[in-house]
Amino acid sequence: MTASTDALMRRPGLWDRFGRSAVDLRVSLTDRCNLRCTYCMPVEGVPLMPAATALTDDEVVRLVRIGVERLGIRKVRFTGGEPLLRRGLVDIVRQTKSLDPVPEVALTTNGIGLDRLAQPLAAVGLDRVNVSLDTIRRGTFLAITHRDRLQDVLAGLDAARQAGLRPVKVNAVLLRGVNDDQAAELLNWALDEGHELRFIEQMPLDAQQAWQRSEMVTADETYARLSERFRLAPDDEARGSAPAERFRVDGDRGSVGIIAAVTRPFCGDCDRVRLTADGHVRDCLFARDETDLRTPLRQGATDEAIAGKWKRAITLKRAGHGIDDPTFLQPDRPMSAIGG
Ligand code: 5AD
Ligand code: SF4
Repeated sequence: MTASTDALMRRPGLWDRFGRSAVDLRVSLTDRCNLRCTYCMPVEGVPLMPAATALTDDEVVRLVRIGVERLGIRKVRFTGGEPLLRRGLVDIVRQTKSLDPVPEVALTTNGIGLDRLAQPLAAVGLDRVNVSLDTIRRGTFLAITHRDRLQDVLAGLDAARQAGLRPVKVNAVLLRGVNDDQAAELLNWALDEGHELRFIEQMPLDAQQAWQRSEMVTADETYARLSERFRLAPDDEARGSAPAERFRVDGDRGSVGIIAAVTRPFCGDCDRVRLTADGHVRDCLFARDETDLRTPLRQGATDEAIAGKWKRAITLKRAGHGIDDPTFLQPDRPMSAIGG
């Protein structure tokens, strides 16, 4: 079922040809990061975007405002790289929470610096945080991230809970032979801490392009490993566009999510759109094409003109990521430049 581009352009909101509308905006605030997670970046890092091409705080807020006021965006998630490295973050969140209608605002972070920033962010209205953490063992943390900073992340998680950013979600990626034997340990810890853990299948988003499907720990494997230690029962709550399959753990101990991004893609329900730190719209993590909004923005385009370009970009969104197609090509940008 496809609609003509003209018909989609006339409809309020960001509609694609497959009947999906994007209401969830992910904004990458920087491609810099203080970790080097193997599934994202090589140890030496990746070439960073030139400072002049990065959006200023005012430009970020203007694009977010256009999304919220004119295009039906209802949720905004700031990501990176590592968004806590962005100096203007607290003010960007404050201005985003002052928009009308007020969007829900969340942050995806590696947690380093959250010990200092959780409270100020909560004070300006941040609703939720997702913290990436794949292990609670110092040695494994070092092996995955190439930095000895587990304690900083744990301090950040404590601060987030104390600041009332609850429930804190923890995102974990299992890597074969590295931490795949720690799934139950991690869940046990998260339940004790009152955090909501979600396991994400490793996706082909690393800058080194080393991802191999055969090496990936699948959602089914994760489920099987957890079932050895815990009683998992499907959560009744409607899933909607949420990617995680949720399970109650041992009756009422808490819940766990498993995100089968590769083996059971949820593209059909996708309501997301992404904005890179240099002001390009990406309609998918795995998009091959982007639409540049920064250039028109800097050339003085009106809000209406920018909204029009953004709407048109979404009409080109493809049905799915096609990771399983033989013709699949990894995106040119690594995860650190796209945001989660
Ligand atoms: N596959 C799956 N998840 C990834 N993340 C980063 N790279 C990958 C990948 N290749 C996760 C991070 C973070 C979120 C933004 O995505 O751990 O939680
Ligand atoms: Fe940094 Fe996130 Fe990439 Fe890890 S996955 S290196 S925390 S941007």
